[in-house]
Parts: sequence; structure tokens; C-alpha cells
Amino acid sequence: MSSNITFHHHKISKADREKLKNQKAVLFWLTGLSGSGKSTIANRLEEKLFNLGKHTYILDGDNIRFGLNSDLGFSEKDREENIRRIGEVAKLFVDAGIIVITAFISPFRKDRERVRKLFPNGEFVEIFVDTPLEICKKRDPKGLYQKVERGEIHNFTGIDSPYEKPENPEIYIDTTKMDIEEATNIIIRYYINRYSGVDR
Ligand code: ADX
Repeated sequence: MSSNITFHHHKISKADREKLKNQKAVLFWLTGLSGSGKSTIANRLEEKLFNLGKHTYILDGDNIRFGLNSDLGFSEKDREENIRRIGEVAKLFVDAGIIVITAFISPFRKDRERVRKLFPNGEFVEIFVDTPLEICKKRDPKGLYQKVERGEIHNFTGIDSPYEKPENPEIYIDTTKMDIEEATNIIIRYYINRYSGVDR
């Protein structure tokens, strides 16, 4: 941490920005294996929120790794830094009054918990997108599991790098039992139940 720096409090607060946008800003944190459906759920969820007149933004693993985190790989240490930076960026967006949806594997429990601690109670909503490895392998939307089989990728989550399941996620999505519509409706209902009336 640098010394000789001062945190500035701005005149317009997060609450002011939420009020202007007529919404409560939260972070929907999707976690799950590669190919589990995080990005698909994130996109459909954003579309639904958008149609409800909400101000949203998606931060997505693959995209962020092209830019902000292009210096990071998939070692445990790099993944930790990846999630730390995403957490900080998400916090800025939430402070701006936006409903943020993130789609990162975020395989390590301690890294997710560290992000949770950046937010007041109730603002970090952990969503476990639970898709069995066998199904992710079968889907293999980016052909990465095939590459792993051929020995072309190492440290792949669920294969030779661990995935630590959330123990107490706010929302649990079992993709073997529900489709995208149902999954996103559950999240929308969660938001409305919790924050309608606080629609500032
Ligand atoms: S995380 O583990 O640091 O949270 P992140 O979500 O940013 O990962 O990126 C995951 C995406 O990177 C995967 O969906 C996949 O497309 C790609 N990828 C490339 N190499 C790996 C790997 N070794 N393990 C997992 N995903 C990888």
C-alpha cells in the first residue's frame, strides 16, 4: 500500500447516484467451472434487467483478460490477483450505482470471500452456477477441454487445478434441473423481493 495518499469522499454519494437511477446497486457474482454457463446466464440476466429499466454492466472473464488483466495467467497467484482486481473494479461500478454482473470461474473460496468483504452486507450476491464437469466437457464451447485432453493446457480448473464450491451461496443454480430462463428468473425474483420498495 502506498503512503502519503488520502481517500477522497465526493460530494455526490452512491445513494444519490442510486436514487437518480431509481435502483439499488448490487453485485451479482457468478462462479462456476469453465463452460458451466456463467456468461450465458450473465447475458440473459442483463437483458432482463435492462428491459426492466435497470442500469447494468457485465464484467466477463475472457474479456477482462484481454485488457485490464492481460498480464495475468492461470497460476493460483495470478487467479488471486485477477479476482482481487475484478473485485475492486466491481466495487467502483457498484459505487457508481450500477447493477454489476460478473462471470469469472473464481475457483478459490478465500478470493471470493475477500471480494465479499469489500461490500456492505447484502450487496455481494454469490451465485453458484453448478454444472457437473462431465457436462462442461461435453459442451466444451471453446474447445478448451479437448486441448486439455491433448495436453496443450495445464492448470485447468476442474482437471488439474481445483474448484472450491461455494458453501453458502445466496443463489444456487443447478443447471441440470433448470434452463436459462428459469435460472435468470430466480435471480430477478431475488432482486425484486429484496430491493423493491428500496427502489430508490
Ligand atoms: S479465474 O480462474 O481467474 O477466475 P477467469 O474466469 O478469469 O478464471 O477465466 C476463465 C476463462 O479462461 C475460461 O472460461 C477459459 O475460457 C479460459 N482459460 C484458459 N486457460 C484456463 C485454465 N487453465 N483454467 C481455466 N480457464 C482457462
